[in-house]
Amino acid sequence: MEQIPFNSPHLSGNELEYIVDAHKNGQLAGDGKYTKKCSELLESLTQTSRALITHSCTAALEMSAILLGLEPGDEVIMPSYTFVSTANAFVLRGAVPVFVDVDISTFNINPEAVKDAITDKTKAIIAVHYAGLSCDMDRLMSIASDFNLPVIEDAAQALMSTYKSRNLGSLGQLASVSFHETKNIISGEGGALLINDNSFLDRAEIIREKGTDRSRFFRGEVDKYTWVDIGSSYLPGELIAAFLYAQLQSVTNITNKRLRNWNTYNDALSDLEEKGLLRRQSIPDYCSHNAHMFFIVLDSKEQRAQLIDFLKMNSIYSVFHYVPLHSSPAGIKYGRVSGSLDNTQIAAERLLRLPMGYSIDVNRVVSSIYSFYRSNGYV
Ligand SMILES: Cc1ncc(COP(=O)(O)O)c(C=O)c1O
Repeated sequence: MEQIPFNSPHLSGNELEYIVDAHKNGQLAGDGKYTKKCSELLESLTQTSRALITHSCTAALEMSAILLGLEPGDEVIMPSYTFVSTANAFVLRGAVPVFVDVDISTFNINPEAVKDAITDKTKAIIAVHYAGLSCDMDRLMSIASDFNLPVIEDAAQALMSTYKSRNLGSLGQLASVSFHETKNIISGEGGALLINDNSFLDRAEIIREKGTDRSRFFRGEVDKYTWVDIGSSYLPGELIAAFLYAQLQSVTNITNKRLRNWNTYNDALSDLEEKGLLRRQSIPDYCSHNAHMFFIVLDSKEQRAQLIDFLKMNSIYSVFHYVPLHSSPAGIKYGRVSGSLDNTQIAAERLLRLPMGYSIDVNRVVSSIYSFYRSNGYV
């Protein structure tokens, strides 16, 4: 039986041609023709004032942490239900991640839990748009502005999603996106820092270029470049950027294909939801999404394990995540918890991600899920 992988990295058309062209241009290091093209296209797609292409979303989060000027002991509020990089980037600066709960319907950070977690050490709030669905941004931004705190969007999964018709990534002072091979738009590893608060612009360029003012030198603004600040090597090489540019050019096509598969899952599994057997992802009225993920929420951890095994026997690979950060070894060592994390626990134990991509056989996954419930006497 043909396997249905959880994710399969796709080519969208011109990737290989652009890589050959990048080589012909004679510049394989970063910030060449394709990096610039990616930045411009991303700025227009996300409606942000500046998009700096990085080698990962992790890199963009680390740059954000440096830009915020965090000091040891400063606190950054974030969901426990997220990928490690959301927290690790800030821990690298000595800051303490303060883990709060998520909302039960979207599994996005709960703004009221954020409000309760604010102390005089709080320096930022991280809005992770889980599964490409927007956090409740009006409420989060209003809490942030009451306490004069910046909001950093971790939009790793959220390129092309919107909140009240505004692009995710354009709402917080800073945002980061990922082009890891599991995302909608890919370059193997890859990411970008999106800058909406222009006061961060000059320093962000320096941090990305190993702490030097090399970008200003290339623009002819200084006659030599030198070490001016802390930083690291956060930019990707041109081959990665060439691949990424082809993907970004196809973003509408890729998103639409994923949306078709997402809608097939959503329609086909509604029956099982009506019978109370599972819960489908629910999309708040205020957002449109990019079909990054289709997840279901099962009745119990045990039932999820049984379904994963059943699908695997049919060569279909589904996955779950995350181990909540507050209960991970590094989370316990470096972070602290605020409030109850009951919904985080539910997500960690019962959420299942179905295979997603633009060329997978969604109908076969659906019929296997129905077989699972039939063989267990539910339908
Ligand atoms: C919410 C979130 N933040 C950050 C990252 C890190 O992205 P990258 O692998 O591009 O560093 C991921 C990756 O899966 C993610 O899902």
